[in-house]
Amino acid sequence: MDILITGGAGYIGSHLADRLLADGHSVVVLDDLSTGRFENIAHHQGNPRFAWVQGDVRDAPLVARLVERCDVVFHLAAVVGVGHVVRDPLRCVQVNVGGTEAVLAAAFAHRRRVLFASSSEVYGKSDRVPFREEDDRILGATRIPRWAYAVSKALDEHLCFAYADRGLEVSVVRYFNSYGPRMDGRGYGSVVARFISQALKGEPLTVYGDGQQTRCFTYVSDTVEGTVRAATRTEALGQAFNIGSDREVAVRDLAEMIRTLTGSSSPIVQVPYEEVFGRQFEEAVRRRPSIDKARRLLGFEPAVPLEEGLKHTIRWFERNLTAETQRAQKG
Ligand SMILES: NC(=O)c1ccc[n+]([C@@H]2O[C@H](COP(=O)([O-])OP(=O)(O)OC[C@H]3O[C@@H](n4cnc5c(N)ncnc54)[C@H](O)[C@@H]3O)[C@@H](O)[C@H]2O)c1
Repeated sequence: MDILITGGAGYIGSHLADRLLADGHSVVVLDDLSTGRFENIAHHQGNPRFAWVQGDVRDAPLVARLVERCDVVFHLAAVVGVGHVVRDPLRCVQVNVGGTEAVLAAAFAHRRRVLFASSSEVYGKSDRVPFREEDDRILGATRIPRWAYAVSKALDEHLCFAYADRGLEVSVVRYFNSYGPRMDGRGYGSVVARFISQALKGEPLTVYGDGQQTRCFTYVSDTVEGTVRAATRTEALGQAFNIGSDREVAVRDLAEMIRTLTGSSSPIVQVPYEEVFGRQFEEAVRRRPSIDKARRLLGFEPAVPLEEGLKHTIRWFERNLTAETQRAQKG
């Protein structure tokens, strides 16, 4: 198949590109390199089945041209990561909603299948764990910038299903804390990336809040597997799926694990949320998916245990730490 990946130079998108190329497909990546990196896809240069375009996913004529030439679109381009969202909620809403509308309109016009990357954030601060796809969502006030991301992704899902009602072939995946090589070591998006870089640099591991908040950390190969299944199975059409591990881990315990696995003697310190994200911040306390639906309809089963995935990720960070540190110093 000919495949378009928006956001394909990013962390998950570049792993998806690796997988689809390895499966024998042709891949075109569209990315503006705002958080993605050319190094993530550079190893495919020279492969006749690979091409990439630097551009904005909100550029509707460009998106329409690229969509027309492909069979399936994996739409991952987005402003991601609490740090980025809180710093620039306007860009988050504009890119996440404007970009998705451009992709869906083009796919609808050319009758192409779409996979949309949504997020566990759409469940907000619901305390009804585990989260099921059809559950109610509980979000905070619109004055709190953090919720801009959740709302933008939920609106994107509405767009997907509205187009599905008109005949578009579309599926939605909601990722739960994906981690692995190529994450941004500055840790704007991922607590795993932040802890690993801090541990390897001998800096204190900064736990935001009391560290009792839980997440389900999913190794990137499992994230990609669920994504490919949702994008290709007929049973997935018109559906949303939780894609992630269902092992719930407190952030404080994650810090301990990473400290042990890196052999670091860094202290673990608690930092109040308001010191990092400003006064108006709200956190989701527990976040665990039910993956029954993905198991039943996609045969999805997370395969990589947390300790093993962390070891792979730590090895990658060890090899790339110098480049990461230089990047971090540049801001
Ligand atoms: N990493 C996770 O745990 C997680 C969790 C839930 C959802 N997601 C979703 O998965 C997708 C990929 O996220 P990621 O973690 O790989 O983050 P990422 O920041 O590495 O990837 C996003 C990519 O989109 C690109 N991009 C941003 N704005 C763009 C624009 N206007 N035009 C073109 N490209 C643009 C970035 O340069 C980047 O390469 C996103 O849609 C995100 O919302 C990720």
